[in-house]
Amino acid sequence: MNAVSLDGKKVLVVGGSAGIGLEVAKIALQLGGVVHIASRGKTVPTSILDGVIYHECDAKSDASLRALFDEVGSVDHVAVTVHESAARLGIDTTADRMNLSAVIEYAEGKYLSQYRVIQAALPHLAMDGTITLTSGVASRAIMANHSAISGVNAAIEASARQLAKEQAPRRINVVAPGVTETTTYDAMLPELREQFIKQIAAVVPLRRLALPEEIALSYIFAMQCGYLTGTVIDVSGGQLIG
Ligand SMILES: NC(=O)c1ccc[n+]([C@@H]2O[C@H](COP(=O)([O-])OP(=O)(O)OC[C@H]3O[C@@H](n4cnc5c(N)ncnc54)[C@H](OP(=O)(O)O)[C@@H]3O)[C@@H](O)[C@H]2O)c1
Repeated sequence: MNAVSLDGKKVLVVGGSAGIGLEVAKIALQLGGVVHIASRGKTVPTSILDGVIYHECDAKSDASLRALFDEVGSVDHVAVTVHESAARLGIDTTADRMNLSAVIEYAEGKYLSQYRVIQAALPHLAMDGTITLTSGVASRAIMANHSAISGVNAAIEASARQLAKEQAPRRINVVAPGVTETTTYDAMLPELREQFIKQIAAVVPLRRLALPEEIALSYIFAMQCGYLTGTVIDVSGGQLIG
């Protein structure tokens, strides 16, 4: 069995204070990892999880990320789950109504922030270490009002393939979640949220949204499977097969 043990390994989850990232942190902790999480401290209290080391950090800032990695030091595994909510920015719309400033903010909060984490992490990352990024099913699924969201998520997957070759033997992968029940939808009005959940469940073969812990397992797999690199792990309840 050549699974990479997380026992005693340092695992950093950037975006780990809520949603999918928080579940990655919980599982890594259960598997014996020394777990650090980082977030801006905006959406949740910072004292969320016993046993993890919390860092305040804004992935939109190079200086903040440099300070984070100076604090964390050498690291074995980095999972990145940051984003700006597309729903909050109102870019889940048609091209004729699209606000390009909001698209730029989305790309900044998701693609560029993840890219910045990679740049900040590399000087500290073990040679057998991993970085696992996050895209989304919209990178390839045809979904109404997703032209801009799709492009940003596809860019993450494209960059990861290049980086996996460039940075080997370090391993770089991407998790592409389907729609997942997390805090990201808390900002929606309850009736709109209900309607949205029903619409998504209707087009997913498993007929429901994902739970954050179901998505989180794939980041752990990416850390533990020593032969996995340059790959997108789709965890979408079958949405890509229609
Ligand atoms: N939920 C879904 O349906 C879904 C579907 C497809 C893809 N995804 C992707 O999966 C990832 C996780 O989504 P989620 O739903 O779990 O998100 P979430 O519940 O909104 O949590 C996002 C986490 O990232 C942190 N964060 C956001 N911006 C940050 C920044 N600039 N610097 C540092 N931390 C930051 C947040 O904390 P602070 O705000 O306190 O910083 C929070 O801990 C995202 O990349 C998202 O696009 C989600």
